[in-house]
Amino acid sequence: MSMDMQFLAGKKILLGISGGIAAYKCAELTRRLRDHGADIRVVMTKSAQEFITPLTMQAVSGHIVASSLLDPQAEAGMGHIELGKWADMILLAPATANLIARLHGGFADELLTTLCLASTAPIVIAPAMNMQMYLASATQYNLKRLEKRHFFIWGPGYGIQACGDVGPGRMLETDDLVQRTIDFFTPKETVFEGVNITITAGPTQEALDPVRYISNHSSGKMGFALATIAEQWGANVTLISGPTALPTPKNVHREKVVSALQMLKASINTINNCDIFIGCAAVADYRAQDICQQKIKKTSQSEDLILRLVKNPDIIASVANHPNRPYCVGFAAETESLEQYARGKLKSKKLDLIAANDVAKEGQGFNSEKNALTVFSNRQRFDIKLADKKEVARQLLKIISEQYQKKLTRDTKNNETDPT
Ligand code: C5P
Repeated sequence: MSMDMQFLAGKKILLGISGGIAAYKCAELTRRLRDHGADIRVVMTKSAQEFITPLTMQAVSGHIVASSLLDPQAEAGMGHIELGKWADMILLAPATANLIARLHGGFADELLTTLCLASTAPIVIAPAMNMQMYLASATQYNLKRLEKRHFFIWGPGYGIQACGDVGPGRMLETDDLVQRTIDFFTPKETVFEGVNITITAGPTQEALDPVRYISNHSSGKMGFALATIAEQWGANVTLISGPTALPTPKNVHREKVVSALQMLKASINTINNCDIFIGCAAVADYRAQDICQQKIKKTSQSEDLILRLVKNPDIIASVANHPNRPYCVGFAAETESLEQYARGKLKSKKLDLIAANDVAKEGQGFNSEKNALTVFSNRQRFDIKLADKKEVARQLLKIISEQYQKKLTRDTKNNETDPT
């Protein structure tokens, strides 16, 4: 079981559904939250039932769905006041403009609005509506005031809407809502309070001409997971990322780069403000010696094309060799002789730690959801078993924080005994 699953284990979430087209996503949302261990009770407004049936929500949540204040059967089970007390969180998804207005007004005109008034649980609003309705000054005003009253507003997302308009107003995607719920319940660790961490992530792209490049299959997920957890544990995180489709983690400063040379420049720029540097990017080893200004044409005279490549600088080695070097953690993706090659890189690049993964094994590492790592320092070895990348990130950051603290202690002692 992953740590993510544990974080929602036993958490009681009251899912309040109001009448928007995004209500159809609630069945999947409920299943996913339950997969992570949450207990879900569903309350639907009358209009929500026009979009998804209580029977569906009963089947996926495993409990009778409450929808009426005056339903003796439902009140005989868990009455509305009890339901409000039961919840660790009320998640209103989708929350329509109408529901938002009623919350702002403090109405108790339906079971769901009554529950929101009667409960002391944190209330999360996931707005979902047409973009004009979202941008309307009344809705904006209501949301701002609700936020001031400590309601949490998640979203909305931006994109194509049911009516065909493109703009803000979509309910956040299920993945995003699930992740935010996990983050919400994740206890705040503070091991990195005040520590500046730079992380490189993703692939680099090395242009050949205006339309072509050399790159690799790195998804960036491992580096983004490290950035997410490091931030949650109190670090000030700079994430220098090559091209990926991943969203920037909350409160993380992201610098988007394309090539290895750009990544090097951005990395060196952070050194004076960096305590720990984690090189997670899959940097292209070579780049084109000359980038053609025009598209390279295929010719009828020749069956082959010769490209001259030159070596890219080694970013993490440049950081580790800098006079003001931070604590340096590298990665090594290997297909054979894992320990030998990883230890070789630890030494030649002058790193403090190296996290090695066997990319020949199926289902881990490059472009996969999971990873397993063996971490080497000069003296020690730590094994992190196959798990999803967030869990692997947690375990790796735990090792990094312990080793980093030890190094600080060693450095302090050395400075005390050595008067030079
Ligand atoms: O030498 P190799 O590519 O296997 O080393 C992997 C480690 O070195 C990773 O931490 C990677 O981010 C870093 N690296 C780098 N610059 C390069 C090549 C690799 O920072 N040009």
